[in-house]
Amino acid sequence: MDSELDWHGLRAALDWQVELGVTDTIGETPVNRYEAAAEAVAQVATVAAQAAAAPAPARPAQADPVADARAAASAAPDLDALRAAMTAYEHCELKRGARNLVFADGTPGARLMLIGEAPGRDEDLQGKPFVGRAGQLLDRMLAAIGLSRDGGVYITNVLPWRPPQNRDPKPDEIAMLLPFLERHVALADPQVLIVMGNTSCQACFGKRGIMRLRGHWAEAFGRPAMPMLHPAYLLRTPSAKREAWADLLAVQAKLKGTTA
Ligand code: URA
Repeated sequence: MDSELDWHGLRAALDWQVELGVTDTIGETPVNRYEAAAEAVAQVATVAAQAAAAPAPARPAQADPVADARAAASAAPDLDALRAAMTAYEHCELKRGARNLVFADGTPGARLMLIGEAPGRDEDLQGKPFVGRAGQLLDRMLAAIGLSRDGGVYITNVLPWRPPQNRDPKPDEIAMLLPFLERHVALADPQVLIVMGNTSCQACFGKRGIMRLRGHWAEAFGRPAMPMLHPAYLLRTPSAKREAWADLLAVQAKLKGTTA
């Protein structure tokens, strides 16, 4: 403020400020607000540039259910260890809704291994594959070619846990459980496989279409494999038992032709 102004000059200057809208006196020294704002903007820009130049913080590794299953399965030296590895596997949602892990039944090391689809209600309750009505029919079918769970056949499923309401398994569920099935076959080391139903064909051959596939030898996990109609289907469609019988005879012939 110009100290040369007399009282009248000072009064006139004050009136002029009031006219401009000044209501409070907050300091003796004038502040250039435009400069202050420009400085703040520059500071924000500097902080943003520093953040962009800094190395990104490490992200937690994404879980890979298939890779984890592969690692757990390949580390299992025998069937008991494989069962334990599957019991400890946490990626599959089906596990949470199931009462039991359904691992296998029959004779480990048998020349014939049968791969079904998934446990149903009875299997979930008992923790054993094929113990319901379809399983009883399966036992009669096997008996017709001289085989039983106590001798000559080992039985498992693609999925060890019952899907809710027996719904079809999802592709990602099959994919994450496939390494366990593959290891299961390697450790049980059968000479011949029976692959029952569409879900099992999808897992073992990578394709569906059981009506077309059945009756024709294929290969799964490096072994001869016969796709067959599922016994649950045979219960609903008894006329299809003819085809199932023909396929069983083909399996019997193959077993006779392979070395014990
Ligand atoms: N159906 C299957 O495929 N597996 C079982 O264990 C029971 C029914």
